[in-house]
Amino acid sequence: MPTELELLRDQALACTACKLAGLGRSQVVFGVGDPAADLLFVGEGPGAEEDRLGEPFVGRSGKLLDQLLWEELGITRAECYIANVVKCRPPDNRDPEPDEIATCRPWLDRQLALIAPRVVVTLGKFATQLLLDSKEGITRLRGRSYPWRDGVLIPTVHPAYALRGGGTPLAQMRADFARAKLALAGVAT
Ligand code: URA
Repeated sequence: MPTELELLRDQALACTACKLAGLGRSQVVFGVGDPAADLLFVGEGPGAEEDRLGEPFVGRSGKLLDQLLWEELGITRAECYIANVVKCRPPDNRDPEPDEIATCRPWLDRQLALIAPRVVVTLGKFATQLLLDSKEGITRLRGRSYPWRDGVLIPTVHPAYALRGGGTPLAQMRADFARAKLALAGVAT
C-alpha cells in the first residue's frame, strides 16, 4: 500500500495548476528524504539541475546544503526532508511569482502536515516569508527560532546567497544550522 505521502507525490507529479507547468519545466520536483523526518528544509524552487534530475538541491546550492548538513548537524540528506516553496522550475531562474507560490502552497502544506517535522528550516526569503506570514526581509527574520505549529521554525539565508556573499552569510547559515541542532535536541534557542 502506498503511503499518503507517496500518493500526494503521485498527484503532485501530474500538477498543471499554475503557469510554471507550461513555461518549460521538464518535471515536478516534489521533495526528497525521510518521510518521518524531525527536520525539514524548505527552499525556493528548482533550478536547472533539479529540473533535470527531479530532486531538490542537487546543484551548487545543494552541494553547500549537503556540506553544512554534515558539518553542522552530522547528518546526510537522507536523514531529513527537503522540499521547496514551488515544485516547478521558474524560467531563467527568475523568482517565483505570488500566484505561483499561492497555487503551489497546498502541496507544501500537505507535505508539512504528513511529515510533521519538529524543526523546519526555511532557506531564504520566499520560504521564510511564506511560512511566517511576514513581509520582513530575511536578514531581519533570521538569527532566532520561532514557535511554529507543533515545533519551531528557524529561518536562514538561501545557500545560493551564501555562495555569492562569502563569509558573512555562510557564517549565518552555520549559526542557524547549529540552532536547528539544538532545537532537535530539545534545547530552547
Ligand atoms: N534552490 C532552491 O531553492 N531549491 C532547489 O531545489 C535548488 C536550488
